[in-house]
Amino acid sequence: MEILTLPTAEAACVRAAEIVAQAVVVRPEAALGLPTGRTPVPIYAELVRRRRAGGLRLGAVRAFGLDELWGVPASAPASFRRELDGAFYRHVDIVAANIYALDGAAADATAEAAAYEAALGRAGGLDLALLGIGGNGHIAFNEPGSPFASRTRLVALAAETREAQRAAFGTAPVPTHALTIGIANILEARRVVLVATGAAKAEIVARALEGTVTEALPASVLRQHAAATFVLDEAAASRLTAPRR
Ligand code: GLP
Repeated sequence: MEILTLPTAEAACVRAAEIVAQAVVVRPEAALGLPTGRTPVPIYAELVRRRRAGGLRLGAVRAFGLDELWGVPASAPASFRRELDGAFYRHVDIVAANIYALDGAAADATAEAAAYEAALGRAGGLDLALLGIGGNGHIAFNEPGSPFASRTRLVALAAETREAQRAAFGTAPVPTHALTIGIANILEARRVVLVATGAAKAEIVARALEGTVTEALPASVLRQHAAATFVLDEAAASRLTAPRR
């Protein structure tokens, strides 16, 4: 378990982008697990900047969106697929055929999860899972109580997770469920990088890193991973008893 604490959110995101870029240099066809949310926006911006500067080639990368809201088609403004398109895919040389997403409008959630698992299998699993952390400790959409052995599946969202999504839906109802990669799939990734920025994440980061490893706090399981890195800004690291750099 490695903990990197950077002075600002921007610096933390640049550091995370460096780790992703390095993984692609080492393995140009790397399979990357990619999150949505506010946290990774500057990471994608930095990767786009590096691509435009000419040093980063993503033409062979396999990109796996980690989750999707159930009932939300890829074309909808609130879809995670669309978010990744807008923040990242559209601006770089990732090949459309190498982009994998869970389809929130699939007819059959079980079949959709199985298709994603098959694609992950064909890619040989994830080389790097880039993660954020939810306010309740969720990773992707693995909510508290998710079994560590869980794989890609349909899950019910926690009330606070739905609340966090509310802004994207305006007056429309917020989805109650989501498709998500499982915790076992994340643990199988050869490298895991969790990024947390801002004071609002400080308490959950401290519990994940210093409390009990428990299914009640999904991110805590990453301490059992052989190659997990938490990339924090000082605000997110501020409740650690021994802040590290
Ligand atoms: C969502 C996503 C997660 C993300 C989390 C935190 O629920 N499913 O993958 O890590 O929220 O989002 P944010 O970065 O906006 O705090």
